Amino acid sequence: MSTRVVNTIAIVACVVIAVLVTLHLLPGTLTCVSQTSDDTQKANVRIQELTNELHKFKSLVDTGSQRQQKSGLPNIPRDSPPAHENFVEDLGSGPLKLVREKGYAHDLVTLELDKLTDEELLMTMHSYVDNIDVLCRRKFRMGNLGDGGWEVCDDPDVRPRDPCIVYSFGINNDFSFDDDVANVYGCHVYSFDPSMTNMPEVTNRSEKVHFHRIGLDGRTYVNAINWPLYTLQDIRKKLGHQRDAIDVIKIDIENSEWPAIPEMAESGAFDKVKQLLLEYHVEKTDRNFLLPKLKAIQLVEKAGFKKFYAHKNPACIFSVKGFPVVRTKCYELHYLKR
Ligand SMILES: *[C@@H]1O[C@H](CO)[C@@H](O)[C@H](O)[C@H]1NC(C)=O
Repeated sequence: MSTRVVNTIAIVACVVIAVLVTLHLLPGTLTCVSQTSDDTQKANVRIQELTNELHKFKSLVDTGSQRQQKSGLPNIPRDSPPAHENFVEDLGSGPLKLVREKGYAHDLVTLELDKLTDEELLMTMHSYVDNIDVLCRRKFRMGNLGDGGWEVCDDPDVRPRDPCIVYSFGINNDFSFDDDVANVYGCHVYSFDPSMTNMPEVTNRSEKVHFHRIGLDGRTYVNAINWPLYTLQDIRKKLGHQRDAIDVIKIDIENSEWPAIPEMAESGAFDKVKQLLLEYHVEKTDRNFLLPKLKAIQLVEKAGFKKFYAHKNPACIFSVKGFPVVRTKCYELHYLKR
């Protein structure tokens, strides 16, 4: 701060004091002239102190980074996962070595999936779906504990706010998630399930929960067992939501997520979707199965979604060669877009 700035501040302070004195809010004995030079002197002393502190701080930073360069350790930012190739990791020798060596849990966007070996694909799939990339500081469980419920991120930047729209695909007669989101957040919830033939084609379950007996897929058609299936884009059109934000989309549709994901990612239907809660079904371990699935997951990442919670559904316990601990065929991934 220059002396001129300090003087200006002192003069402004002086005027304020004068006004307060005039309004009888301060005793009228202050003399502005002596006050001003006094304040300038004090401010100059403080500026000198702060400058000295800054110099000390800078020299600490310099010493630290010199030491870091000497030891050869990469500078790993605290708030983002290190890029896999630059990260010097101690792989250890126990049963986790193989997973650490071959499984990529982050940064799928930049991974060249075609170049991965069969083993790397398998380790990557089961590592990726069981780890997170961003922090959601507060989550709320919507719906049943166990099957049927999901976590919604309640952080202020992604929290649903009335008026809000939620799409819920795959109900299987359990509306606990849908009812909770409507009641807690006041959102209009659109619930879809083509298998619930006990229900009318379209019906309002409550003022805010709207059921449609249709399903989500990679194209719009009627399947062999007469279920009307739609792309996400066509559903948004059908309901007049092309331009609206969809605050949360929940998808639990028993393997139909695989054809639906590329369509959603490539058509722009993921635009203005803030949270994506998605169950991945990973039932096989061979390359032909895994490669297109990881490519679909890569598209979700490319659309800007980051994992904030990963849950292994215990209903589909599974063991994977190379993993020393239990896996599942059903991973419930919770994504948000910041
Ligand atoms: C359901 O409620 C909406 C208003 O939220 C209304 O426009 C629609 O007609 C209702 N549908 C049925 C089938 O009652």
